[in-house]
Amino acid sequence: MSDPHAPVDVSAFPHDFLWGTATSAYQIEGAVSEDGRSPSIWDTFSHTPGKIDNDDHGDIACDHYHRWREDIALMRQLGTNAYRLSVAWPRVVPGGDGVVNAKGLDFYDEVIDSLLAQGITPSVTLYHWDLPQVLQDRGGWPARETAEHFAAYAAVVAERLGDRVKHWTPLNEPLCSAWIGHLEGRMAPGWTDLTAAVQASYHLLLGHGLATQAIRAAVPGAEIGIVNNLAQVEPATDRPEDIAAARRMDGHANRWWLDPVHGRGFPADMVEVYGVELPEKAGDLATIAEPLDWLGLNYYFPSAIADHPAGPAPYADSVRRLGVPRTGMDWEVDANGIETLLLRLTHEYGARKLYVTENGSAFPDVVRPDGTVDDPEREEYLVNHIAACARAARKGAPLAGYFAWSLLDNFEWAYGYDKRFGLVHVDYATQARTIKGSGHRYADIVRRHGSRSRRAA
Ligand code: FCB
Repeated sequence: MSDPHAPVDVSAFPHDFLWGTATSAYQIEGAVSEDGRSPSIWDTFSHTPGKIDNDDHGDIACDHYHRWREDIALMRQLGTNAYRLSVAWPRVVPGGDGVVNAKGLDFYDEVIDSLLAQGITPSVTLYHWDLPQVLQDRGGWPARETAEHFAAYAAVVAERLGDRVKHWTPLNEPLCSAWIGHLEGRMAPGWTDLTAAVQASYHLLLGHGLATQAIRAAVPGAEIGIVNNLAQVEPATDRPEDIAAARRMDGHANRWWLDPVHGRGFPADMVEVYGVELPEKAGDLATIAEPLDWLGLNYYFPSAIADHPAGPAPYADSVRRLGVPRTGMDWEVDANGIETLLLRLTHEYGARKLYVTENGSAFPDVVRPDGTVDDPEREEYLVNHIAACARAARKGAPLAGYFAWSLLDNFEWAYGYDKRFGLVHVDYATQARTIKGSGHRYADIVRRHGSRSRRAA
């Protein structure tokens, strides 16, 4: 294990590297019924008893809707030059399609102006899982119209913000929406239906393609990418069944989301595994393969995969490796996975530009009597993963930015508020923010790289 206190060598990163933090609307904003916002599927899901640890929900969350100025000031304190945020569809088009809510757009407009005034480049995600409930009631992602409504909403946001925002992604982790939301049922809308899940996956990717076209039409010079949480998988044993299971998991988590976007169609082996007919219409595959400017990688942990015939698809499951360090999520810690995946995107998918759009860890924090927050494990995770990114860059991965997940502790979906990923601690009783040790360390890495670049310039 490397010395966590040693300086991180990030000299391989370009001088205009984006050093950012990431958040998403439902996880931080709160204000769920203010200024015309309609409920999303996450409001419904989180208010369904038993779905979320402690029955937590996002009604208030980090109250970012009212405290965003303070939060942007924190970004400045960290010295970051980029911020990945998501726009809430139910704020902007509360009916799912049709009438635009001016107040919803105004909110993001002000946030963007303020970021730019502080020298922070915004990277906008249009869908971080908060589908308007009204569209869920009309069929949700298993229905083709949802993809079309998504593109219309994308056009509205792009037209309003596109004079200032150049960095766009339609979807965050469509895998979670499709597989965890419709097959495993652990996320909204909470279904366990393979047919619906495959249809949702298809329409998410179609929506991605249609939204990409809409953004391109509205924003000259837009840089558009897709954000996937790819899996670093390996077989748990050398049994042929486990090797085949790992291959299926690779198809389920990685190739299903990457191949169609790269014009390779949906992986035939996985179409067979699912046994569900794709709702394909002429021209769809070309739309899904609309060329992209960058690929985004969200990386958290690797997994060892074993055969699991009892299902659900892909009939493969991760096994608990012993003696491996783990985070508070019980996720394995291994920074090599991020390097391997960045290099895979470079070599196997020919990426011309890459961003790590999320990476981070949850650990229980210690708030000291003097109010400071010590989080040495998160700090070590951060340092080791940035170092692994730098190794990938030295080996040729065209990495253009790193966004730490997350700026703030926030609503961690089904885990509620107990799991803290922030570089900044949030005291939910008072909404007080405190930069943690990991946040100070990140600021130090960013500052050193900045000064190196200035010297090099
Ligand atoms: C990712 C999500 C993000 C956050 C992190 C921990 O899958 O995109 O919203 O919950 O996991």
